[in-house]
Amino acid sequence: MAFNAQTVDDMFKIMVERLGKIVPEAELRYKAELAVEVNRLKQEKNAVILGHNYMEPALYYSVPDYTGDSLGLAREAARTDKDIIVFCGVRFMAETAKILNPEKTVLLPSPKGGCSLAESITAADVRELRKQYPGVPVVTYVNTYADVKAESDICCTSGNAKQVVESFNDQTIIFLPDEFMAKNIAKETGKQIILPTKNPAKLKNSGEGVEYRMIGWSGKCEVHEKFTVEDIINVRRQFPDVVVLAHLECKPEVIDAADYSGSTTGMIKYVETTQAPRYLLLTECSMGDNIAAANPHKEMLRLCSIRCPHMNEITLEQTRDSLLYNRYVIDVPEDIRRRAKQAVDRMIAIG
Ligand code: 13P
Ligand code: SF4
Repeated sequence: MAFNAQTVDDMFKIMVERLGKIVPEAELRYKAELAVEVNRLKQEKNAVILGHNYMEPALYYSVPDYTGDSLGLAREAARTDKDIIVFCGVRFMAETAKILNPEKTVLLPSPKGGCSLAESITAADVRELRKQYPGVPVVTYVNTYADVKAESDICCTSGNAKQVVESFNDQTIIFLPDEFMAKNIAKETGKQIILPTKNPAKLKNSGEGVEYRMIGWSGKCEVHEKFTVEDIINVRRQFPDVVVLAHLECKPEVIDAADYSGSTTGMIKYVETTQAPRYLLLTECSMGDNIAAANPHKEMLRLCSIRCPHMNEITLEQTRDSLLYNRYVIDVPEDIRRRAKQAVDRMIAIG
């Protein structure tokens, strides 16, 4: 929730109190000025700001009305009554907000705000898979663009992927586009998985004795694919009492070596509700700063050489400019939006 300060001095004071150990004071003074301006514009324009857990600390703690993971923010987008939604996150998230709110203006502060997973698959790819595996339902991770969602039966996020997959019982499903998440969820739900690009002929009931219950895709998150088991071994060697948290987009062997895996909000709640002396976070580094700010007595270890270049594009300056100049407007063609909404509505209802 946004800091409720009307003046720059008050905002600066609150920021120093919360973030003084994480962000240099000189930087906080400038950020306090920007934050007060953003909050003034937000009121003037009857806007709501949704901030993903990866936003940098000064932004994360000062201007969003709601912070959270993809699922939580989609739910907030579905219930807002404001005229404008400013999405401090990436494009696929802002598109999801637009899919749910066709009559509202949805703004993304960066003109790009991409995502390597969203870019790994097209709507034509999904249509081709449907042809290859007729009648098999398509579950699509929310990190995809609207036209891909429109070809899907249901979306899911890292916060409810297991429940969504379990809702199909032991039916065979197509799970797109994150290869590692598909493998992680297949393991959790006891499903055999195959990547169609590798061996399309070997699908279930092929006579070879294996029934594949999940068909994946080879998309990857450019941030989470870089974490390795070696990273965990090295940190455990130095800090034997460390608790390791990994996002579900990490490789299966990394998830196996971690103590907890889940969505970004799942990781935040895990730290809040457990009492380890230190935690290693295998996810975008800014989130470690945000958790450290809220849990000053717990040490957060993080591998900050690995950043999400897309999330990092969203700054307080960009957020102010998006409200000042009404940019960058997110539009989704109506026929795509209507079809994508069915898949998103089903996702919101689960978990
Ligand atoms: P969450 O839904 O867990 O916040 O994940 C979104 C994301 O892009 C992680 O890289
Ligand atoms: Fe996409 Fe990975 Fe960045 Fe998340 S961290 S927005 S999955 S590129």
